Amino acid sequence: MKATAVAHANIALVKYWGKRDEALNLPVAGSISATLLDLSTCTSVIFEEELENDVLMLNGQRASPRAERRVSGFLDLIRERAKIRLPARVVSENSFPAGTGLASSASAFASIALAGIRAASLTLSPAKLSELARRGSGSAARSIFGGFVEMKAGRESDGSDAVAAPLADEGYWPISLIVVLSSTDPKEMGSSEGMIHSARTSPYYGAWIESSARDLEETHQAIIARDLERLGTVAEHSSLKMHALTLSARPAIVYWEGTTVTVIRAVRELRKRGVPVYFSIDAGPQVTLLCESGSTESVKSALEGIPGVQGVLVSALGPGARCLEEESS
Ligand code: PMV
Repeated sequence: MKATAVAHANIALVKYWGKRDEALNLPVAGSISATLLDLSTCTSVIFEEELENDVLMLNGQRASPRAERRVSGFLDLIRERAKIRLPARVVSENSFPAGTGLASSASAFASIALAGIRAASLTLSPAKLSELARRGSGSAARSIFGGFVEMKAGRESDGSDAVAAPLADEGYWPISLIVVLSSTDPKEMGSSEGMIHSARTSPYYGAWIESSARDLEETHQAIIARDLERLGTVAEHSSLKMHALTLSARPAIVYWEGTTVTVIRAVRELRKRGVPVYFSIDAGPQVTLLCESGSTESVKSALEGIPGVQGVLVSALGPGARCLEEESS
């Protein structure tokens, strides 16, 4: 009972920040993301009678007890469905360098979900797989699909309609997504905790929810029209609005480093010089840039020279999660 699956990371253009149900990981509003070809996680799940407990290996090393507990809780959802009780060995490798502070929970849980159900001999529709991946991490629901992906907030209390769906596949529009690495220190607060804290204490939380429908609609229109300026403008707005929530929480959560601000300024400067490039920032200090693939080299070389920038990873739009191999006994 073994299966291996690969899934890619994604960057949200309209951010998910807030839950309508904490236990089921139901988002308070929808989100839209782009799947990243060059940042992926490959995971094997092996259900083994000989094991006493679940074991998680991350990039060749035993994971922390906390990470193991989180994955174990997720595997319980699969064991319940498959009516099995076997412990599992989960072996996960990231294609991107470890310890870069890049959130890998989306590609991790999307690949564990797919490898896990196949190892347990279950078959789920892509929507049901997305619903399952969401239980591991909200953004993982989107990594089931490639290209541009929309996550629905849904209305049902059981979360059956809080799933992602593809908007356009990875071949639809040749854009580059450039991840600019600054600090590699652990981030101040994990995203689940950060969003719950923002919801409870930021005076702007209501405005954030209320304005999400407009951001989603504008992003739809921009993708349909392949309009980078419109897409980039709303992506920057959604990022800055999300960080305005964390900065206005009490106590504040400051995810940025000095280099984050320097990169924002450099992007604006590039735009003034006629290079169409836009930024997005998740719950951490790294900045992801969005540009037409023809501008990749000029953007990359401008960013690499900035003091504090530790590395630049260039990616195209990537595909959804897929199974690489399966064995059953
Ligand atoms: O999937 P989570 O729980 O790690 O939350 C993701 C939060 C952001 O990355 C900041 C935004 C998003 O929509 O991916």
